[in-house]
Amino acid sequence: MPKLKPDVKRFDDPSKTLDGFSYRRGELYCESVSLSEIARELGTPVYVYSQNGIINRTRRLQKSLEPLEDRAGIRFAVKASSNIHILSLLTKLGCGADIVSGGELFRASLAQIPPDKIVFSGVGKTEEEISRAIVAGIELFNVESLSEVELLNVVAQKHNTNVDIALRFNPNISAQTHRHISTGLKNSKFGLTSDEFWAAVTMSEKLPRIKLIGISCHIGSQITDLRPFRRAWEQLLILAKKVKHITTLDIGGGLGIDYQCPIESAALEDYGKAIVTFFKSEPYKILVEPGRSLVGPTGVLVSKLLHLKKRTNRNIAVLDAGMNDLLRPALYGATHGIFPLRSRAPGAKSIVCDVVGPICESADLFLKSQPLPIWGSDSIYALGCAGAYGMSMASQYNSRGRPPEVLVDRDQYRVIRRRETNLDLVNHEL
Ligand code: LLP
Repeated sequence: MPKLKPDVKRFDDPSKTLDGFSYRRGELYCESVSLSEIARELGTPVYVYSQNGIINRTRRLQKSLEPLEDRAGIRFAVKASSNIHILSLLTKLGCGADIVSGGELFRASLAQIPPDKIVFSGVGKTEEEISRAIVAGIELFNVESLSEVELLNVVAQKHNTNVDIALRFNPNISAQTHRHISTGLKNSKFGLTSDEFWAAVTMSEKLPRIKLIGISCHIGSQITDLRPFRRAWEQLLILAKKVKHITTLDIGGGLGIDYQCPIESAALEDYGKAIVTFFKSEPYKILVEPGRSLVGPTGVLVSKLLHLKKRTNRNIAVLDAGMNDLLRPALYGATHGIFPLRSRAPGAKSIVCDVVGPICESADLFLKSQPLPIWGSDSIYALGCAGAYGMSMASQYNSRGRPPEVLVDRDQYRVIRRRETNLDLVNHEL
């Protein structure tokens, strides 16, 4: 194998970047269940989540928002992790949902999220989706275009009811994050520019079925610094004071997590505290739509080494998980740490390699020049921080069934979604 210089990224202690995962006697555990046991029982690749990790992170944010009492509410961004069992866990913890499609509304109802805790965001709501959400009696529509205000009025009229809306303002702020997940710049497709915002206010006043009660904002995702948030909140407050009857500010999601060491992102407590400090003396109800920060560090994707290949200038480790299972590295160049399930396997040799998946795409690359301990045919690893935008973005590309999902609670685990079979791949074509 070529001797190569490793990259500088460090992941060796899972407890630094993950919630609910640690080594015990050299074996990687999720809570009190060994990941090797899950891999043996269910095969690989498999997503594994820590239930108490999710509970812990949600409570941390809730606790830090406590000074706002019932004026603050969490509306979990369903797109980050859409499994109904995870949603139902979050419901029991008191969270509502931020949805962006009729499909997410369906999932939220199956998870028994109270409709009056569901906000509907998204730039392209269809008439049918709006209609279903009105029938369900959701809390709020976050409106993103003038024609959407008109459409909402028409659909509400058909149902002989009124709808509460918030206008999603685009504050023209750089979230200093990856361009694919930056949403608050004026040329982005999201939200209403200042001119559109005021036109929407005037329009709402004239339309009989529209009740403009809120202003919302979401400037992007994986934001590690609190300053862009504060800049957006300042603008929200200025607007809220100029528009009549505003009771609710939906400040979106976006708080980042640490995919690798050293720690860079503001913690949940810093974020919560900043919200409280900013809004405590204001009269508004504050909705927060976190996704990644609640579930990202609480999940891993367990995958097995299939082959080790040698090139003149690099070694290549081929895993059985690919970009169809975890898209983030290919789409955003994101780094997910890799942790061997056995940290002290006898005879393990550390080899610097590019870690890739089996998909027929060069972008199917998880990590470059990564030192990887290899100990034989059962070399299995956990790709870290895969609890958010992992399974929810997985596809069947290359006709691969999506992996199962497992939820661990202390020394018990349960399959919350089974592995897709070959029949699942072709079912809609038969
Ligand atoms: N609210 C709205 C209106 C959103 O568009 C999003 C995410 C959130 C809340 C939740 O943001 P979070 O707290 O999770 O950052 N697939 C990308 C992330 C896309 C985020 C899209 N919107 C990724 O894997 O990084």
